[in-house]
Amino acid sequence: MKELQQAERVILITGGAGFIGSHLVRLLVTRYPNYHILNLDKLTYAGNLANLVDIAQAPNYTFIKGDICDYEQLLALFIQYGVDGVIHLAAESHVDRSIRDPFLFAQTNVMGTLSLLQAALKSWEGNFEGKRFHHVSTDEVYGALAFDTTLFTESTPYDPHSPYSASKASSDHFVRAYHDTYGLPVVLTNCSNNYGPYQFPEKLIPLFIHNLCEQKELPVYGKGENVRDWLYVEDHARALDLVFHKGGDRQTYNIGGFNEWRNIDLVHLLIKTVDSALGRPEGSSLPLIRFVTDRAGHDLRYAIDASKIKNELGWEPSLQFEEGIERTVQWYLSNPDWLKSITSGAYERYYQEMYG
Ligand code: NAD
Ligand code: DAU
Repeated sequence: MKELQQAERVILITGGAGFIGSHLVRLLVTRYPNYHILNLDKLTYAGNLANLVDIAQAPNYTFIKGDICDYEQLLALFIQYGVDGVIHLAAESHVDRSIRDPFLFAQTNVMGTLSLLQAALKSWEGNFEGKRFHHVSTDEVYGALAFDTTLFTESTPYDPHSPYSASKASSDHFVRAYHDTYGLPVVLTNCSNNYGPYQFPEKLIPLFIHNLCEQKELPVYGKGENVRDWLYVEDHARALDLVFHKGGDRQTYNIGGFNEWRNIDLVHLLIKTVDSALGRPEGSSLPLIRFVTDRAGHDLRYAIDASKIKNELGWEPSLQFEEGIERTVQWYLSNPDWLKSITSGAYERYYQEMYG
């Protein structure tokens, strides 16, 4: 509590035990010793405190188990800690799960964001000076591009296709509505596909690294022709830090890697990198590829124009993709316990016992 009283700023990060959130928490805790960083996370299947063991004891860091849908808990937290900034990442994030359970996505991503906006408004109303609500969103709100050279810009009209992207689009609209109606100071970022350490192995890159290690099949949806724009997660975290501090009020910044890959080409790169790291003959895992039924409503191509954040705030991705993939593969190979604890469900049971 002592450090908190002296803190220059108190920043609430939601979803900080997840993939991107944990990288952001680590960055801010390390870079801003004068801030206090609160990490509010429900610890769903995707939240894992093992992602943050290295900074868990830092004096400027506090973890709070909580649900962004619990308005009363949020309001109490804003008041108790004197929160003056929010970086909101908590969400259901996996497209395939949203196809199976759209209600959960509306509840968490829409109602949860609304509860958080309302709590910020109620605790900050009348004094917005120095306050900021940063909503972390996705390029999927813009829909899908054709196989051409067009890119998503900040003014591309919203056209979400999956329940996940529809829920994120809806939450983006609520964030802007709270600015336009009540004057809440907000900023938004829409980012492309992230990859790197601590990503839950349901997403393409960690799933395929895991399956390659175990010599399991690699389920490529459709013909593997869909295109994604990939960004190393630490580059995203740096961009969030920059936008939170320097971005303009009610502005949106697209964040991406200028790094488009067809899924099938990416799968070949993963095979090459993992086979080489494990000392297997080149191409020996190619027979693991299985072309399976396509994802319903599978968006053809995403590609971000990240010129605005580059020109206005000076942000650029720092890592070449092949280097980032090499680093990511090495991290997963060096942390088999992290992967095993997740894939066996052991950590979920452990944290349920710990936190109820
Ligand atoms: P993730 O699934 O790894 O983590 C989500 C975190 O939110 C988990 O720790 C989970 O426990 C927590 N959470 C879920 N429901 C909650 C609730 N009701 N209350 C509190 N916490 C809750 O997700 P991620 O990939 O790290 O994505 C983080 C954010 O970034 C999301 O908003 C996502 O839409 C956005 N985003 C992700 C990507 C990407 O490629 N992963 C790209 C662009 C934007
Ligand atoms: O674009 C940003 C989005 O990127 C984020 O908002 C989402 O939270 C994040 O999950 C990610 O969404 P994608 O659906 O693009 O990511 P995913 O890793 O699930 O899939 C990447 C591509 O690979 C996509 O075209 C589907 C394909 N795929 C995925 C899986 C899991 C396969 O072919 N096989 C698979 O098993």
